[in-house]
Amino acid sequence: SYLFRALTKCVECSSEASELADIEWDNLGFGLLPTDYMYMMKCSQGGKFSKGELQRFGNIELNPSAGVLNYGQGLFEGLKAYRKEDGNILLFRPEENALRMRQGAERMCMPAPTVDQFVEAVKETVLANKRWVPPPGKGSLYIRPLLMGSGAVLGLAPAPEYSFLIYVSPVGNYFKEGVAPINLIVEHELHRATPGGTGGVKTIGNYAAVLKAQSAAKAKGYSDVLYLDCVHKKYLEEVSSCNIFVVKGNVISTPAIKGTILPGITRKSIIDVARSQGFQVEERFVPVDELLDADEVFCTGTAVVVSPVGSITYKGKRVSYGVDGFGAVAQQLYSVLTRLQMGLIDDKMNWTVE
Ligand code: COI
Repeated sequence: SYLFRALTKCVECSSEASELADIEWDNLGFGLLPTDYMYMMKCSQGGKFSKGELQRFGNIELNPSAGVLNYGQGLFEGLKAYRKEDGNILLFRPEENALRMRQGAERMCMPAPTVDQFVEAVKETVLANKRWVPPPGKGSLYIRPLLMGSGAVLGLAPAPEYSFLIYVSPVGNYFKEGVAPINLIVEHELHRATPGGTGGVKTIGNYAAVLKAQSAAKAKGYSDVLYLDCVHKKYLEEVSSCNIFVVKGNVISTPAIKGTILPGITRKSIIDVARSQGFQVEERFVPVDELLDADEVFCTGTAVVVSPVGSITYKGKRVSYGVDGFGAVAQQLYSVLTRLQMGLIDDKMNWTVE
């Protein structure tokens, strides 16, 4: 049995050391593929995060009274790593995720890792799992940092202990449509966020709150739901998992960040890329009526990248965009952004980190 254990260990080591994991790399979707390691770092309430460590990827243990389980005290982030042709791996703007997690932590009464701790932890986790970074052109390694109240708390209060965890999974396209246009339905009864609420931070509860409308929409054949503001019920907010942009001529409009919309890092990057390509970008209140005579609509997000919208249904009326496939503006912006992320064009903005 000693020999068997030694041999098994050896097979394990050599497969982990090999360049690429032995999986089918074509047609990756957006689902969890368990990888080798996850990162874990803990700290007490009022304390600071110090040394974290890599652990074998697997289940974690939580007290049934953990703050995150009982009161939803949790945040998550999402970013991606891309493998270049020369074998190097690129992260896209990881410090922006670190800053956003710090802002969210302040709103949710949690301590957060520093920007350096966050970025170093992401690098360590990606390198430990580097055989899971898809080959160039086959997808990316999705990185999911979590921050949660892991300490036990029964009366409503901030948890006494916090855990920062990172796990990763290779992914391809987010929507089952692949790169084909998605079909949205405008939700006018349920809302995603309220002024003064937590819609502007990446807290886990924001995502549970959209499942009901999203499931109903999917059951009717739509890809996802587009939310309106809850005060006037007429301005665009965002889609369940991504930001929205409306194109009319040379002007690209997107809802302004005002506390109820997630400040997407892809959103921010696309605004800069669009301006650098000569478009006029407006961040403002965008009335739902503008969808009626828009030339194009597209969504942005880390998971969805840039997704063209093929149709939007509002109060029973369906408006379609383009013929089939990407609209020209979304295609242009997608192409510049993804070539930057994959290291295929000069990164003048210094957005990528090797
Ligand atoms: C992301 O785009 O990374 C997100 O966090 C959205 C998530 C629902 C997949």
